[in-house]
Amino acid sequence: MRIIGVIGAGQMGSGIAQVSAAAGYNVYLSDLKIELAEKAKESVAKALRRLVEKEKIGVKEAETTLSRIEPVASFEPMAQADLIIEAATEKEEIKRKIFESAGKILGHQAILASNTSSIPITRMAQASPDPARFIGIHFFNPVPVMGLIEVIKGLATSDETVQTVRDYCAALGKEVVFAEDEPGFVVNRILLPMINEAVFVLGQGTANILDIDKGCRIGLNHPMGPLELADFVGLDTCLDIIMVLYNTTGDSKYRPAPLLVKYVEAGWLGRKTGRGFYDYSGDAPVPTR
Ligand code: 3HC
Repeated sequence: MRIIGVIGAGQMGSGIAQVSAAAGYNVYLSDLKIELAEKAKESVAKALRRLVEKEKIGVKEAETTLSRIEPVASFEPMAQADLIIEAATEKEEIKRKIFESAGKILGHQAILASNTSSIPITRMAQASPDPARFIGIHFFNPVPVMGLIEVIKGLATSDETVQTVRDYCAALGKEVVFAEDEPGFVVNRILLPMINEAVFVLGQGTANILDIDKGCRIGLNHPMGPLELADFVGLDTCLDIIMVLYNTTGDSKYRPAPLLVKYVEAGWLGRKTGRGFYDYSGDAPVPTR
């Protein structure tokens, strides 16, 4: 396997492009507009420059890695790809449209994968040309730092597809956990109820933002408290995932915290919009409650 296509050049897509290029793959990177993919390449360039400054990699290695990423305006060049990874927004209808379009150019042996954080793989495979070559490859944010990938096999995913993806993950130097195709898979099934509960705790006035985060950071030894982490992941993404858990299981234990819904409705989506549970407009984040 030599060529990877990455569809969606946001936080996750650019991270996937970076680690794939660093592992020696040539990467085609696309988004709704080529400018977005170009901007993502610039952010990879910045991340690589930081690694050079910290003497983690050499200048030549950074240049070679960056040169392997090519922003593209359409899916057509990805006809050469051995693996296409969709990393678009966590909305099933958008993802299905992508699989239908990318499916038209997908090579006969190539694999189509989704970086979905929670949507069932077996269901989305129906929008792809060959469910045997469809799989979930779930990365964690920030992709270059986090050492884990969750691999999710749909009902029809072939063993050959699983093996190829396992080899790809190993080439990236990541650990793999295998999850059955159940809503939220493993990690988000556990993480999102924790984040959602933290928002209930905040909404009910049990503790303020700083104490909730401090409690989990120090009391549980987590690198970030749940509200900080929610801002980091994006409150819209958190709500999308909890809604998938709620709607697909019908279990009321997954009902979204009303305050989470309110923040998303207000457009306070976390770091990416400059405000979530914290305000990021100054030098240091300031809690909003
Ligand atoms: N890209 C690349 N590298 C980054 C980075 C980024 N966005 N952010 C931080 N780093 C690197 C830093 O350069 C630094 O590297 P070094 O140790 O080699 O110098 C290292 O990570 C530590 O960073 P900092 O010292 O700046 O800051 P912290 O020690 O606070 O670490 C963190 C930052 C790694 C983000 C840490 O707070 C952390 O691990 N947080 C939890 C992240 C997490 O839980 N991610 C999973 C989210 S859930 C998910 O993605 C699933 C999805 O489906 C929702």
